[in-house]
Amino acid sequence: MGEMLLEAVDIYKSYSGVSVLRNVQLHIRRGEVHALMGENGAGKSTLMKILTGVVKQDSGQVRYKGQPLRIQHPKEIQRLGIGIVYQEFNLLPDLTVAQNIFIGREPGARLRGFISERQLNEDAAKILQQLKLKINPRMKVSELSVAEQQMVEIAKTLSYNCELLILDEPTAALTESEIDTLFDVIHDLKAQGVAIIYISHRMNELKRIVDRVTVLRDGQYISEHLFQDTTVDKLIQEMVGRELTSKFPGKPDYSRGKKTLEVKNVSTKQLLRNISFEAYEGEILGIAGLMGAGRTELARAIFGADRMVTGEIWIQGKKVAIQTPAEGIRHGIGYITEDRKKDGLMLSINIKDNIMISNYDKYSTAGWVKENEAKRVTDHYITRLGIKAVNRNQEVGNLSGGNQQKVVLAKWLCRHTNILIFDEPTRGIDVGAKYEVYELMYELVLNGVTVIMISSELPEILGMSDRILVMAEGRITADLSAEDADQEKITHYAMNQ
Ligand SMILES: Nc1ncnc2c1ncn2[C@@H]1O[C@H](COP(=O)(O)OP(=O)(O)OP(=O)(O)O)[C@@H](O)[C@H]1O
Ligand SMILES: [Mg+2]
Repeated sequence: MGEMLLEAVDIYKSYSGVSVLRNVQLHIRRGEVHALMGENGAGKSTLMKILTGVVKQDSGQVRYKGQPLRIQHPKEIQRLGIGIVYQEFNLLPDLTVAQNIFIGREPGARLRGFISERQLNEDAAKILQQLKLKINPRMKVSELSVAEQQMVEIAKTLSYNCELLILDEPTAALTESEIDTLFDVIHDLKAQGVAIIYISHRMNELKRIVDRVTVLRDGQYISEHLFQDTTVDKLIQEMVGRELTSKFPGKPDYSRGKKTLEVKNVSTKQLLRNISFEAYEGEILGIAGLMGAGRTELARAIFGADRMVTGEIWIQGKKVAIQTPAEGIRHGIGYITEDRKKDGLMLSINIKDNIMISNYDKYSTAGWVKENEAKRVTDHYITRLGIKAVNRNQEVGNLSGGNQQKVVLAKWLCRHTNILIFDEPTRGIDVGAKYEVYELMYELVLNGVTVIMISSELPEILGMSDRILVMAEGRITADLSAEDADQEKITHYAMNQ
């Protein structure tokens, strides 16, 4: 094993008297992939912010290459050879890919205060090629998919000689093949002696790359292991502090009721081709498929966020015209998107107001907000979803990534829609909280709600769905009952073979 590169000892950090990190330690060696594990709000991102100078610890020491780490300004980390890809993107959407990669360090012709655009694009193209990415460096970042933006973030850190690379949930938005590419890059970097700190809630992928692991729970250091000396189940137990015997709650007793939604022959300009299916009261309908198969497009078309070129939507036996999300909501459809930033979380206001803003009609009479009711409902979901927050008045921007995701869920759950579409409902959510989300889905179905769940996680599709639609290239390629479905069949139809 390589020599010690970074050592954090006895780290303490609190925000306005609330302790976030206590007695935390971390040991990173050259050339290792080190997983940092813990539930939502355990303190992982905060610890990384300390290592990169974004926040300062209250006490404790970080040593880097044998010296105390002193960072006056986050910009200095490049010089120190530390790179970080944040959980939330940091790219400037109006600049091009190349400009984003080299921001602040543009090559050539700098003396005259003028940047060689050609050189910039050529240099960026080289790095993108190294990542096997087919992205034009001249494109604006705002035109890229979430996955592509994530890869550009990584390209940015590769553009300078990085000795310590921190990846905070890098794969949450990536496709299978992009994950493979990323893991190839990680292997290459490792071979060059780069140390990587890797944060992810996707347990299955850890064994492919991880050498050692540190577990945090509630802001405290729990353990450090060689990955080969432990098991995923043991790690989960250490993370949640109790044994998690099952990943899915037992299916309660419910049965399919009347037809609530009928989608007939829907096509869109972009991708969807003649989509038809039905969904029922008291049913979880899973939608599986590879990234780009058209699952999100389908949800957006039904909800009124995208225009349909042909096709009809029928709700409760009546044909409806849904042209905007507001109309979708009026017809009892809810859509929890896969991207929490676009889902209108307001980072500078508190949890309660975020939940209430989109439910103003429900929790107000004659312009007056029913304050007590609003508080009660907010507290209910804070408890039910285990949102880790000081209280309902905490700013959403100060919550951990996974807890922000839970606030998005709460916003929709208290609307009581008849048809609720979840798009990647557990992305970024820790193993324990996933279980709570699944329980909530069952609660919804028991109350007669039609739950439609789009997910890229096959175990989740198989573990929760009563029926499964598989999509490929904008079409539905299979409609399977839960009993008929297995991993192989779904993959087969998802590849449209
Ligand atoms: N600026 C802040 N003010 C107050 N509390 C904060 C602030 N930043 C973080 N916290 C709190 O610190 C705790 C740890 O957050 P952190 O983002 O480090 O968690 P995490 O382990 O990265 O979780 P996740 O898996 O959800 O991303 C959370 O309870 C969060 O609300
Ligand atoms: Mg985090």
